Amino acid sequence: MKGKDILTVESLSPTEVALIMEKTKQLKKMQKDGCCPRLMDGKTLAMIFHKASTRTRVSFEAGFAQMGGHALFLDKDSTQMGRGEPIKDTARVLSRYTDGIMIRTFSQSIVEELALYADIPVINGLTDYAHPMQALADIFTAIEKFGNLKGRKLVYIGDGNNVANSLMFVCAKLAMDMVLCCPQGYQPAQKTTEAAQKAAKETGAIIQINPNPSDAVLGASVLYTDVWASMGQEGESEKRKQALRDYKIDAELLSKALKEAIVMHCLPAHRGEEISDEVMEGPQSAIFDQAENRLHVQKAAMALLMSERSF
Ligand code: CP
Ligand code: NVA
Repeated sequence: MKGKDILTVESLSPTEVALIMEKTKQLKKMQKDGCCPRLMDGKTLAMIFHKASTRTRVSFEAGFAQMGGHALFLDKDSTQMGRGEPIKDTARVLSRYTDGIMIRTFSQSIVEELALYADIPVINGLTDYAHPMQALADIFTAIEKFGNLKGRKLVYIGDGNNVANSLMFVCAKLAMDMVLCCPQGYQPAQKTTEAAQKAAKETGAIIQINPNPSDAVLGASVLYTDVWASMGQEGESEKRKQALRDYKIDAELLSKALKEAIVMHCLPAHRGEEISDEVMEGPQSAIFDQAENRLHVQKAAMALLMSERSF
């Protein structure tokens, strides 16, 4: 995977996703054992943020440092990007100084343009369309809990957003079934769902839409939700609260899933809206394991894309 970009999950083959999972497991164990290989010695990562972040920023920066590299935080306002320097110029300049770029921005087309002009690996740290590193960390968390995911079902409840899009493809690649439980008007774009269903055919996974929460969660191993209004949609908050008010994970809904089911949320969460405080703090919550796994999965991905050393 050396030199590749990760702009979406769909751009990865099932074999590449499986390799990221294997290397994540290995690096996580090494970290726990107190030895992290210095796979990024002498390297620099540019991290561009056009939106807020806690987990993505800290996990990329800490992970890169743990592997012996140095990560630079670049926001819009304190760089020339905020004064209109084109993304294609930024891409070529950063390629002369650094070894990889992580970007969080609005439109997926910005990430694609950056990758087109950069000659170093580009990793998508969230766009309006996708959140690939999140979905990879989430599926790793599910594997840690359940092992083989074949025949297991993840139910995504709420807004069919960037996180839902990436989850569809990661489930498709790892043979996990997925149900999108989203109301009319808040389901993922039809062409995205159809593309994920096509990818799922390769592994035998089934991806379906079922807007009825009580019915959708029957037999589920993972219940997943995310905020009703994503970054950039703040102006629609009230309208979304109305439209999505029945799409929340609470103890009653959770009781309808499998007994061993786990609950996931990419964070940040709005307790009392898409998830209850009780469920977030309850024994079935895997939410902070997911957050931790961002660190490990991103280290594995960066090492695969950027390191000359095998590990
Ligand atoms: N889940 C996630 O990407 O969190 P941040 O917005 O804090 O980076
Ligand atoms: N869907 C959310 C995810 C945040 C990590 C957003 O885009 O704001």
